[in-house]
Amino acid sequence: MHKIALFIFIGLEFSVLQGLYAQPSKASDKQVNALLAKMTLDEKVGQLNQYTGDRAATGPLSKSADKLEEIKKGHVGSMLNVRGAKDTRMVQEVAMQSRLKIPLIFGLDVIHGYRVTFPVPLAEASSWDMEAIELSARTAATEAAASGLHWTFAPMVDIFRDPRWGRVMEGAGEDPYLGSLIAKARVKGFQGKGLGNTDAVMACAKHFAAYGAAIGGRDYNAVDMSDRQLWETYLPPFKAAVDAGVATFMNSFNELNGIPATGNSYLQRNILKGKWNFQGFVVSDWSSIGEMIAHGFVENKYEAARVALTAGNDMDMESRAYTENLVQLVNDGKVPVKLVDDAVRRILRKKFELGLFDDPFRFCDEQREQAVLNSPESKKAARMVAAKSIVLLKNEKQLLPLSKSVKNIAIIGPVAKSKNDMKGAWSVYWDGKDDKDLVSLYDGIKNKVGNDVSLSYAKGCGIKDTSRNGFAEAVAVAQKADVVIMAVGESADMTGESKSKTNIHIPGVQEDLVKAIQATGKPVVVLLMAGRPTIFNWIADNVPAILYTWWLGSEAGNAMADVLFGDYNPAGKLTMSFPRSEGQIPVYYSYKNTGRPVIKEKEILYKSAYTDSPNTPRFAFGYGLSYTTFEYSNLKLSKAAIHNNETLIASFTLTNSGKYKGEEVVQLYLRDMVASVTRPVKELKDFIKISLEPGESKTLSFTIDKEKLSFYNQRMKRTTEPGRFELMIGSASNDIRLNSGFELVD
Ligand code: GLC
Repeated sequence: MHKIALFIFIGLEFSVLQGLYAQPSKASDKQVNALLAKMTLDEKVGQLNQYTGDRAATGPLSKSADKLEEIKKGHVGSMLNVRGAKDTRMVQEVAMQSRLKIPLIFGLDVIHGYRVTFPVPLAEASSWDMEAIELSARTAATEAAASGLHWTFAPMVDIFRDPRWGRVMEGAGEDPYLGSLIAKARVKGFQGKGLGNTDAVMACAKHFAAYGAAIGGRDYNAVDMSDRQLWETYLPPFKAAVDAGVATFMNSFNELNGIPATGNSYLQRNILKGKWNFQGFVVSDWSSIGEMIAHGFVENKYEAARVALTAGNDMDMESRAYTENLVQLVNDGKVPVKLVDDAVRRILRKKFELGLFDDPFRFCDEQREQAVLNSPESKKAARMVAAKSIVLLKNEKQLLPLSKSVKNIAIIGPVAKSKNDMKGAWSVYWDGKDDKDLVSLYDGIKNKVGNDVSLSYAKGCGIKDTSRNGFAEAVAVAQKADVVIMAVGESADMTGESKSKTNIHIPGVQEDLVKAIQATGKPVVVLLMAGRPTIFNWIADNVPAILYTWWLGSEAGNAMADVLFGDYNPAGKLTMSFPRSEGQIPVYYSYKNTGRPVIKEKEILYKSAYTDSPNTPRFAFGYGLSYTTFEYSNLKLSKAAIHNNETLIASFTLTNSGKYKGEEVVQLYLRDMVASVTRPVKELKDFIKISLEPGESKTLSFTIDKEKLSFYNQRMKRTTEPGRFELMIGSASNDIRLNSGFELVD
C-alpha cells in the first residue's frame, strides 16, 4: 500500500504575501501575465531591445538613436554600459515616464571585479580555489549592485585550447571538469543569496556555444566540431551554470557547424530551453543578430530578427533588428506572438525577481555606492586572490623566496612600474583617473621592504618596440644589485576581445633584455605578465626563477611582493597548456593516443610526432611549483574491481617534505583503456587543494563513481562500458606520482 503523502497547500493570495517580503518574492507568472496582458505589441518588442550607453562601447557602434526618447516610449528593455547610482537613476527616471513604467535592467561586463579589480579570470582559475573564485565574484557583484547595476555579462565559461585567441584571459582554461566547477563558483558569487538582494546581480553564462574553438584561434571565426566534442568538452560548463541557477545566457558570434549560434535553435531551444529547461533569458552578443547577414545565413535584418527569435534569442543587444522588424514580422504572420510573449515573460520575470517593480531605484543609492566601493575588505580580498593566482614555474637553487638579507634589489623591465597594465582587459570601471589605486610591481616591493632595502630601477626596453637603447642602463643597474627582479610580458591591451595573434612570443626585445641581464651573472627572477599563455623558451631554459603573474588587478604589486618575499607560498597551477611554439597549437593534456603514439621522445619515425619539436607542451596543464615539496605515497584502492552502481575509494598519503608551509593541488586523472569510442590518455576527474605544515602528512582519498567513468558512446548516449581503467594521482598532468588501475565489471 503506497503511503500517500498528504500535501496541504495553503493557498494564500500572492499579492497578500507580496508586501511582506523585505525583498521581492519570486515573481509569480500571474503578475507577469497580468502585466503582459496590458502591453501593446510595440511595448512587448521594446522589452526585447537593449541599447548601449554612449560612455563605453564594447562593440562596433551602430547608428545612434535618440535612446532616451526610445526609452520614454517603452521601446527599450535594458541598457548596457551605463553605470553608477547617479547615471542609472537618471536613465531609470526616463523609463518611469513610459506608459507602463516597466523598469530597465542595467548590464555591464563586470568580468573580474568592478571598482576593485581582481585577477583576470584565467589567472584566478590557476588558483584552483573555488572559495577564492566565488569571493572574487561576490565582491564584484556587491560593488556593481551598489553602482546601479542589475546584471553582469559574466562568467565567460567557454572552453578553449588555443592561446592565439585573445579571449582566453576571460575564461577558466582547457578542461571541462575544472571549467564546470569554476562556472558554478562564479555564478554563485555573482548571484549571492539570490536575485532581489541589493548585493546580487544576474549572472550571464557566455558565449553559448563553443566560441573558444574558433578555427585558427582567430576571434569570431567559424567553429566546426562533432556533436561528441561539443557535448564532452564545450557544453559542460554551461550546464553547470544552469544547475547553479544562472539567470541569463549570452549566445556567441561564431557559427557552429554552419549555423550562427544566435540563430541556432539546436543550442537555444533544443538544449538550453528544452533539455536543460532553462527558465532565464538569452541575450544576443553585441549586434550578433544583424551579423547573421554577414555570415550569409539570412538576407536582411527582417529575416535575422525572425530567425533569431524563432531560435530562442530573447533580447537583442544593439543590432536593432528586433525593434525595427518584430512588430512587422508578427503582423505579417511570420512570427507567432506567443514567441514574443515567451521572450517578454522571461525578461519580465527577472525584473520582478530583482525587485524592480517594487522599487525601480533600489540599486541607485549614491550613499550606499560611496560606502561600498573600494573598501579595504575588497582590496584585501583582491590581494589574497591575486597571490593565489600566481604560478611558480621554476625555482632553481631555491632562489625564491628572496632572503630578508637582500639589501639591494634591481627592478627591471617595461612592465615593472606599469599600473595601467595590472588591470588586464575588461576592467570596466576605470576612467583612467584612478590609476593611483593600482599597485605596480615596483610599488608592491617598495611597500614590502620600506627603507630597509635599496631599490633601483631601469625600464630596459619597451613592451613592443625593438629599441635596445635602454639595455646598457639596465645592465649597469643590475650589476650594482644583489638580485634582479624582472617584469616582462604583454601590455594589457594585447589580450581580450579581437586580440588574436599568430605570434604569442613575448613581444619586442624583452627576451633579449633578459639575456643581457642574465649575462651579468646576478641572480635573476623573471615575472611574466600577460593575459594568455605566451612563449618564452630562452627564459624558461636559462632563468633560475620564474613566476607567471598574469594581470593580477588592483593589488597586483602587493600580491607579487607577498610571493617574492615568502609571505605567501605560491600554489597556483596552470589551467591551460603552454605551447613551445605556435606550430604546436592546439596542445592540451587530454589528447588521444592515436594508433602511432610516441613512446620514447626520440623515436618518432612513423609516429604521431613532429620532426622539429616534442609533442609535449612547454608547461603542462595542472603544473605549478611551491617553495616546499610534496611526497605522495601509500596508494590503496578499496577494490580491484567495481560494478556500475558501486564506488571505489583511492586513498593515499601526502607529505609536505619541504621547509615551508604550503598548499598542494592534488589531481586525479583517469583513463578508460578500451572503449567503443576512443578515450583521452587522461582526464581530470577530481582534485583536492590542501595546506600542510612542513613535515606534516595527511591521508587523503578520492571517490570514483559511475559518473567519473561515463562517456558518450557511438549513439551519443552517456554510458559506461566494462573494462580496465588507469588511475593516476599527481601534482600536474605531466607529473603523476601514484599509478594504479581497476576493472569496471558489468
Ligand atoms: C562583446 C563581447 C561580450 C560582451 C558584450 C557586451 O562584444 O563579446 O562578451 O559581454 O559585447 O560588452
